[in-house]
Formats: sequence, C-alpha cells, structure tokens
Amino acid sequence: MVMKLPYLGSSLFLFLAQVCVVASGFEKGLPILSFDEGYNQLFGDDNIVLHRDGKAVHLTLNQRTGSGFVSQDLYLHGYFSASIKLPADYTAGVVVAFYMSNGDIFEKNHDEIDFEFLGNIRGKDWRIQTNVYGNGSTRVGREERYNLWFDPADDFHQYTILWTDSHIIFYVDNIPIRELKRTAAMGGNFPSKPMSLYATIWDGSDWATNGGKYRVNYKYAPYVAEFSELILHGCTVDPIEFSSKRCDKVQSPEQLTSLITSPQRSKMDRFRRKYMTYSYCYDQTRYKAPPPECVVNLLEVERLKKFDPVTFGGGRHHHGKRHKRSRANRFEADSI
Ligand SMILES: *[C@@H]1O[C@H](CO)[C@@H](O)[C@H](O)[C@H]1NC(C)=O
Repeated sequence: MVMKLPYLGSSLFLFLAQVCVVASGFEKGLPILSFDEGYNQLFGDDNIVLHRDGKAVHLTLNQRTGSGFVSQDLYLHGYFSASIKLPADYTAGVVVAFYMSNGDIFEKNHDEIDFEFLGNIRGKDWRIQTNVYGNGSTRVGREERYNLWFDPADDFHQYTILWTDSHIIFYVDNIPIRELKRTAAMGGNFPSKPMSLYATIWDGSDWATNGGKYRVNYKYAPYVAEFSELILHGCTVDPIEFSSKRCDKVQSPEQLTSLITSPQRSKMDRFRRKYMTYSYCYDQTRYKAPPPECVVNLLEVERLKKFDPVTFGGGRHHHGKRHKRSRANRFEADSI
C-alpha cells in the first residue's frame, strides 16, 4: 500500500469546506478528481482502463480476473460519490462494489460502509445492497436491499456515501435512500476510524444472485462497469498517527440537523416504502429484537410483510432453531 503524507490544510479550511458541502446540498461544485490525482489501482492488471482525460474509469471482469481501485488517502468523514453505469444484459453472479473500508489496516476491528450492486439474469434489473460495519462488528449485519426506479445499466447514475461523526446517509441521484444515525447503544458498531474509498468488480457467483443459483457466465464477458465524476471530499488523515481532533471540528449540531431537508426526507420515505425489499431492522428470523439504532416505520414493515411474511412477520408461525438457521442462509440467497 502507498502511504501518503498527511493532508496539510488548516482546520479552518476544512471547516469552511464542510460548511460548503452542507450549504450546497452536497452535489454542486465539488471538485472531480482525475484518477491519478485521487486513486491507485488495487488489482486486475489491465482490466482497469482510464478514459476521458483520466476522469473516467472502466473496471472489467472477465474469466481471468476482476478489477478495482482504491483512494490514495484515508478519510475520517466526508462525502464520497461516483457516477456509475453497470454492465447490461446477463450479469448474474457479478458484484460491483463502491465502498469505504479500513480492513487492510485494522484486520480484527475494521469499519466499512458499502454500496453493493448485485447482478441479475437477463430481463431482471440489478439490485442494490447497503451495509455498515463498525470496529469489526461483522456478526451484526446491517444490510438493506432495494430495487431501483431505473435500470442502472442504461445510463450513469450518482451513488453517494455521506459519513459524519453522527450520521451515515446513502444517496442515489441525490435522493437519500438510507439514513443511519449513531446511537449510544451502537457503541463501536458505528464506523469511526479513517477509511479508504474502494470500487471493485468481481465474481460473486456463490451468493450474489439467488444464493448462487445463477452464476457468472463468461460467455457474456467482459463485464464492464463504468465510473466517472469521482468525488472524494473529506478530512484526510495520516494512516499511522491519525488524530480525529482536527476532523471533529468540522461538524456542528446546526449543520447536522440540516443534513436531510424535509422535501428530501419525504422522497426518502417514499423510496423506502416502494423499493426497499429487505431491512435487517425488521428481519425477525435474524434478530429477536431489532439492533438498538433501528427505528420502526410501520409503513415499511407493512410492505415487507406482504413481500416476505416468513422473514418479516405477519404470519403466526413459530420457527424452531433449525428453521431459523436455514432462513439465515436464505438471506444470503435472497431473491428479489
Ligand atoms: C474496538 O475494538 C477493539 C478491539 O476489539 C476494542 O479494544 C475497542 O474498545 C473497540 N472500540 C469501541 C469504541 O468499541
């Protein structure tokens, strides 16, 4: 891994930068880095190719290998975004991931914030999964899954992770689709150490599409995921002696309450009622009581119950341990 010198900007600059992010509604005026300015290749030999003056990247999966890239810097909090166009047609088993992690530095207690795109058989659209781990909390999956209101293989769409000291918000085309608020009860499960940004494409045949029923078919390769408008906007941190003090200054309560405006919140509610197909908060076969940060939204529960009464309740069945375990397996295998 290439270690970079710590960012030398003053905290005043960072404070102003963060205020600008909030005030601009996040999307406008943030610098779009060229690949060489912000990223390094992670793996995949020549399956990673730059386009358009180095501001667009194509990641390919073929029989030989997948591919991926990683930000040169580590960040503590910030706004991380990419326009992504996914491969079309038969993409079962293909996984495209756009995520933050520090798993290479903190092997036992890593943090992670994920967008995962799960390929599908021809005629069925990609699905998105989001997930969050903090301090190695991999026993507590916090997955949600959604369909989209468009075909993500047709055109570029913007996918964004906003990570602050107290909130994680996932956006699709600037519409918030998920908000995770830090609660005291979450303890270390809220990501709190500096992370790098990653983008990868890989063969997830064993689980990505109906639990491995539909595997990657290399007859349809190469699978190419296109990335552009890459935005890295956060507090860069030295990976060895990171101090979060400098980064903490960038948040004030007034800023946080305005993270999601009320029209945006209405859009988020509508999205979740219409397109969410799985939420760990309502999965009664996995968690007897929802993890502490979950806020029950009855409209969301109603829809999920209709969609899958065994997982989300609504039936009157009581399940024994054996059945529970098979349901947990089926979660991986979930078909939407
Ligand atoms: C994170 O994990 C480490 C190692 O397991 C532990 O020592 C530490 O207390 C944890 N931090 C928090 C905030 O829970």
